[in-house]
Amino acid sequence: MQRNNRTLIDKLFETGELEKDEYVTLISNRNEDDAQYLFSLSRKLREQYYGKSVYVRGLIEFTNYCKNDCYYCGIRRSNKNAVRYRLDEDDILACCKEGYSLGFRTFVLQGGEDPYFTDEKMCRIILKIKSLYPDCAVTLSIGEKSRESYQAYFDAGADRYLLRHETADCEHYSKLHPSELSSDNRKRCLYDLKEIGYQVGTGFMVGSPYQTEENLAQDMMFIKELRPSMVGIGPFITHKDTPFYDKPSGTLELTLFMLGLIRLTLPYALIPSTTALGTIAPNGRELGLKAGANVIMPNLSPVEVRKKYMLYDNKICTGEESAQCVQCLKNRVSSTGYEIVTDRGDVVKINN
Ligand code: 5AD
Ligand code: FES
Repeated sequence: MQRNNRTLIDKLFETGELEKDEYVTLISNRNEDDAQYLFSLSRKLREQYYGKSVYVRGLIEFTNYCKNDCYYCGIRRSNKNAVRYRLDEDDILACCKEGYSLGFRTFVLQGGEDPYFTDEKMCRIILKIKSLYPDCAVTLSIGEKSRESYQAYFDAGADRYLLRHETADCEHYSKLHPSELSSDNRKRCLYDLKEIGYQVGTGFMVGSPYQTEENLAQDMMFIKELRPSMVGIGPFITHKDTPFYDKPSGTLELTLFMLGLIRLTLPYALIPSTTALGTIAPNGRELGLKAGANVIMPNLSPVEVRKKYMLYDNKICTGEESAQCVQCLKNRVSSTGYEIVTDRGDVVKINN
């Protein structure tokens, strides 16, 4: 069995491709030895493409209002216990100012799908950030919009867009979301974003309720097809005030394994070692870097609002992981043998 898995890992390393069934076999039969072997190859590839650099993105969680009702998410509209907040333009610019002085050259504006932030307001904010910090990249993560809206943000200067596909399987998607949301529309958004010219990020939760190994294989096939610049994954983590309050969280072990597979599938990708990984284990993000990740996204939001952006229980948000404790982050990253760089950290050119 193990020999077989090694052969599959070698094939993925050499060709960047596996059949869906092969991913299923590899994921289902994985063991610790396979994982270590996989990570040795995923590190090799990340170093071939990006050296020892770790890129940092300043994350600004600017609104936790959301019109959607995803079953897994703590800021879903039906969660009456969520204390809602919005940052205004000046607050956001203050975050950027602080972030710039800390060495961040990418700002990620992330929020729930909040109709208060009209396209006009978003474009104003993007234009302002780009005029004040022309050497910085602006990344948006504000959900599903029309193609026209995406185009307007792009024209205002947005460079990148993060929208996880969450799961590539329509049926599984419908178990995680109410019927007004569909996997097809989500994929439509991702292809629109790509066509417009964004560097696009997608991704999925590992260990989300009802997820099968076949679903994970479908996620791998989907990212191979989409060829995004960025892929963010993290374990599903239970939130007590959601319909999934009694569903178990995903594991560190499977998340790291999937991360390694993503690096082998898309060697050029920018892959964050996510907050969810850091939440599920104290050294989760360091392990993510050692499994092939090359980005971290420290929190730049004002301290007062951080606890309110609770997508899942116990999300780390006040200590060392934050942008302000840049020295802690540097120490953590250098403990893995990698180093934080002050750079926009664009995706390397992809030829095919
Ligand atoms: N556990 C882990 N990740 C979550 N997200 C939302 N809710 C949870 C949760 N309970 C992730 C989704 C979303 C991203 C912003 O956060 O994948 O796309
Ligand atoms: Fe806000 Fe899912 S609950 S987009």
